[in-house]
Amino acid sequence: MIIQPKTKGFICTTAHPVGCKENVRRQIEYIRSLGKKTGAKNVLIIGASTGYGLASRISTAFGLGSATLGVMYEKESNGKRTATAGWYNTKAFEDFAHAQGLYAKSINGDAFSKEIKEKTIQTIREDLGTVDLVIYSLAAPKRVMEDGTVYQSTLRTIGKPFTEKSWDLEKDKLITATIEPASEEEIQGTKKVMGGEDWMLWIEALEKAKVLSHHAMTLAYSYIGPERTYPVYYQGTIGQAKEDLQETAKNIRKSFSSLDLQAYICVNKALVTQASSAIPIVPLYFALLYRVMKKKGLHEDCIGQMGRLFLDKLLPEKTLELDEESRIRMDDYEMRQDVQAEVDALWQQVNEDNLHELADTKGYWDDFYHLFGFFMPGIDYNQETEV
Ligand code: NAI
Repeated sequence: MIIQPKTKGFICTTAHPVGCKENVRRQIEYIRSLGKKTGAKNVLIIGASTGYGLASRISTAFGLGSATLGVMYEKESNGKRTATAGWYNTKAFEDFAHAQGLYAKSINGDAFSKEIKEKTIQTIREDLGTVDLVIYSLAAPKRVMEDGTVYQSTLRTIGKPFTEKSWDLEKDKLITATIEPASEEEIQGTKKVMGGEDWMLWIEALEKAKVLSHHAMTLAYSYIGPERTYPVYYQGTIGQAKEDLQETAKNIRKSFSSLDLQAYICVNKALVTQASSAIPIVPLYFALLYRVMKKKGLHEDCIGQMGRLFLDKLLPEKTLELDEESRIRMDDYEMRQDVQAEVDALWQQVNEDNLHELADTKGYWDDFYHLFGFFMPGIDYNQETEV
């Protein structure tokens, strides 16, 4: 079929297999340009098919030569509808990895479930023995418990409403948006989905099954951002969940000290991904940040961030730099004072007339469409494509 993007607000319901493959190929090419480094041998990535998880998988496989086992929740095509981007990305990644003789297997299913945890452990046992790096990069809208209870993740403020300038993606104009505070149930639901409980369950299950190497490392990704977005992010429902994730890192370090398991939160840069484009008010910040960081030559995409993390910051010969809360800071460039001061000045100036001039709205949309394999240079989108 001829596949075109079908968008609805921040969602694109189609994905292009050839474009997704090209997106993965480009990320691999970038990592290979950094040269081969030494690091983790066997890596488990939970949330491995898009965004930061996919970039982590590509960085470790093609930069360190790691065997990678990926867990994701993606939909296959039914012949009439395209598969999801993450499904195509995973297929492309596996093909590229296998062509290089790299071990790469993927488990498609609900990472929150016992069944997928067991299947993953079984695969590690049979194929790898143990893993020495576990990356937790889930961004999920909901979590279904064993007893059928469903928890939803909500992107709301806590306590009081928050009104700010916002870029309405559907109407492509600047508006003033108000986000209403979450109920207690919504706060708890977000914590259940995006907090640390499931990360801990994974580590407990892996340890119990003796498939974690001694001195292994586990990372979970988080975000902080500038004070302007605190009400909707850092001090909002998602921020509370991330605080719980941070507590979990401490608890993992304490509980598994006999294994010398290193558990860290890695605070990443704000980037357009399927998960982040759902956060209200934040897209305007992203587009202004992109403008400033690109102008200063500081902009990185997911693969740029993860390449710097795994092929520089985390190299075994380097002393790991942590902040006062024992976190790895990959948002170091984003949070630089000069960067934030310029973003802030632009934020104050931006209005309906100058939105496209002051904000990198084109950069935002390019990144968004690339997530689904569209508008990739060199791809003929008028060609019939096998889905
Ligand atoms: P994403 O939407 O690109 O990736 C989410 C991944 O989780 C996909 O591989 C998806 O298949 C998987 N997934 C979702 N539900 C699942 C389930 N039930 N079972 C198995 N797999 C499931 O999101 P992104 O942005 O890469 O987020 C990953 C992590 O990075 C999140 O913790 C997010 O908060 C964090 N982060 C994101 C930033 C951003 O600006 N995008 C900034 C800093 C941190």
